[in-house]
Amino acid sequence: MRNPQYNQQTEYLENLISPTSPLLDECEKQSRAASEHFGLAGISLSRGEAHILRWLTQLKPTKKAVEIGTLTGLSGLYILDGLEKGGQLWTLEKNSEHAEAAQPILQKFAAGNDKKVELVVGDARETLPSLEAQGPFDFIFIDGNKAAYGDYLDWSEKNLKPGGILVADNVFLGGSVYGSTEARFSEKQIQVMKKFNERLMDSDIWRGALLPTNEGLFIAERV
Ligand SMILES: C[S@@+](CC[C@H](N)C(=O)[O-])C[C@H]1O[C@@H](n2cnc3c(N)ncnc32)[C@H](O)[C@@H]1O
Repeated sequence: MRNPQYNQQTEYLENLISPTSPLLDECEKQSRAASEHFGLAGISLSRGEAHILRWLTQLKPTKKAVEIGTLTGLSGLYILDGLEKGGQLWTLEKNSEHAEAAQPILQKFAAGNDKKVELVVGDARETLPSLEAQGPFDFIFIDGNKAAYGDYLDWSEKNLKPGGILVADNVFLGGSVYGSTEARFSEKQIQVMKKFNERLMDSDIWRGALLPTNEGLFIAERV
């Protein structure tokens, strides 16, 4: 269930955090307009959440990042913004219309900042193996098919560097993982997400925290 103060909080953060450059401002506006065109304005990260991604990519030198679930590129822009010069983002998207909308926005932002972006179209479970030769990676952001989070975690365990950062959004699954019946998710999806959170929380290879944001944001370091 959405926190009743969510909209006010989002608006406050939108005003508090200024885009770091006119190009980011322009690209962010284009990305949000494209999401709105698809009727999906609410599913991109808020600026406050996107800012967390950028901050994490800036905490330690980050050259190679992977994102699962591009939509129209909003979160990808903030990941790119935090990468070192010459860094690259591989972003994976199943829906070809979303990918077509995101491609020019991400390309323009990457080119203007001496960074690279590759948009990989298809089901991430099938396309992730094609990235392995480019790894290991410094940063992975999971925001794709909720029923596949366990598979994305398997892949991340093999392809994230020690010291690398994993971030996953929507790990509350609309509240379903703690018993809310407001959102409609299948029993399979709920079990996958519960297992995902448990694996990250109780692990010798992950050290992290589940941030109690509206959607639940897991941040973990590969130790
Ligand atoms: C919540 S949106 C991503 C939002 C984006 N990260 C942002 O903050 O701007 C989820 C995206 O994942 C894509 N997606 C869903 N299932 C997928 C899959 N199996 N493989 C790759 N992408 C998938 C959807 O088409 C959608 O564009």
